[in-house]
Amino acid sequence: MSRSAHPAGPRHADVLPEGHYSAPPADLNALDPKVWAQTVERDEDGVVTVGGITVTRLAEEYGTPAYVLDEADFRSRARAWRTAFGADADVFYAGKAFLSRAVVRWLDEEGLNLDVCSGGELATALSAGMPADRIAFHGNNKSPEEIERAVRAGVGRIVLDSFQEIARVAHIAQSLGVRQRVQIRITVGVEAHTHEFIATAHEDQKFGIPLAGGQAAEAVRRALRLDGLELIGIHSHIGSQIFDMSGFEVAAHRVVGLLKDIRDEHGVELPEIDLGGGLGIAYTSDDDPREPHEIAKALTEIVTRECEGAKLRTPRISVEPGRAVVGPTAFTLYEVGTVKPLDGLRTYVSVDGGMSDNIRTALYDAEYSVALVSRASDAESMLVRVVGKHCESGDIVVKDAFLPGDLAPGDLIAVPATGAYCRSMASNYNHVLRPPVVAVRDGEARVIVRRETEEDLLRLDVG
Ligand code: LLP
Repeated sequence: MSRSAHPAGPRHADVLPEGHYSAPPADLNALDPKVWAQTVERDEDGVVTVGGITVTRLAEEYGTPAYVLDEADFRSRARAWRTAFGADADVFYAGKAFLSRAVVRWLDEEGLNLDVCSGGELATALSAGMPADRIAFHGNNKSPEEIERAVRAGVGRIVLDSFQEIARVAHIAQSLGVRQRVQIRITVGVEAHTHEFIATAHEDQKFGIPLAGGQAAEAVRRALRLDGLELIGIHSHIGSQIFDMSGFEVAAHRVVGLLKDIRDEHGVELPEIDLGGGLGIAYTSDDDPREPHEIAKALTEIVTRECEGAKLRTPRISVEPGRAVVGPTAFTLYEVGTVKPLDGLRTYVSVDGGMSDNIRTALYDAEYSVALVSRASDAESMLVRVVGKHCESGDIVVKDAFLPGDLAPGDLIAVPATGAYCRSMASNYNHVLRPPVVAVRDGEARVIVRRETEEDLLRLDVG
């Protein structure tokens, strides 16, 4: 992104400091539909509304900070994924992006399956009534207790991540008299163009079994020999926040290559392949994500073409979007506490949350947008850094953005596209209480995850 000149304002030097920002938007009151949830708009008084409710009312009733989730948007994105892939494929929502019982019920109603990766996520799914056979259980180090619980519950599949786990799951399933449906997660050796910590298909990392050196083929040999396992397919997940489909193309090519080798060696055609999640969303107006129907078309075509080439029956495809379903559906609502202009640099805007409700900026250098939402303003723009209230200078929510120059304590600002990996990665750093998730739909708001209280904090403190 470019560094740009900026009209000199009362709080600015003529030349802006280095940073990751484009020119200030022509209209700071505009809300780019790419980054905001579908029902978000500004009313005639300039106040932002979602699902027909003003943010000022939400702040009054539920306090700040709060994650505000547009339920209609969530459902419509879930449905778009479901429809795009049709009856011959399965969509597993990745619960790690954000999970609560309400979300599980919406997914169930919209016909999506669910990917869980811990005992806690499994418990949430089961307690909200998700049928176990629509749950996939993931993770690179599932404990024996978690495996036993998943097998007993009757999960539709366990995704095996190591040789030891192949033996472990087979043993547990057999001792329970079950033949557990499993997939093997392989690493196909693709470098996805994303942050190192969220890229997962190159070989030097902890997930999956490498295709290279025949390890994946050996894993298949072992799984096919074990009575406790029914091997239904191969799984590949190449990373997260990916826009470029070429990584999926290479992954599909290599997974199908393995299916062909399995057919040639064992005379078995595995019926399923899972291409994981990882599709990117817009955090700023510069991002251009693909629509689910384009992704479905591209993935289906790749797999079909590869299978025709290998003379294999086309397997049933599944995908595991997390961020692309929930990410754009929520924003974090904050109250401005202090506004601190630093001459020649930028203005620091401190809000009542921070890295405890959004660690992504500190962890991945993630970019976000921000807007003044409790009123419209015609003031000139100023370059800001939105920071939290934690005792750490890396406590940054939005690194570089523009807000109106008349921003003042008490104003509400909102950071869009915080539905994924914000509440689910939230912490209690500095004993700050984790915000609630408020779902809004058709003029009604309800808390689906309540705000943490000091009693919640002290409940864990023994002695
Ligand atoms: N399937 C598997 C096996 C995964 O490991 C993941 C994400 C997904 C699906 C869903 O990926 P998505 O569609 O949401 O990109 N905390 C990071 C993201 C970590 C993703 C881990 N695995 C972040 O905030 O960007």
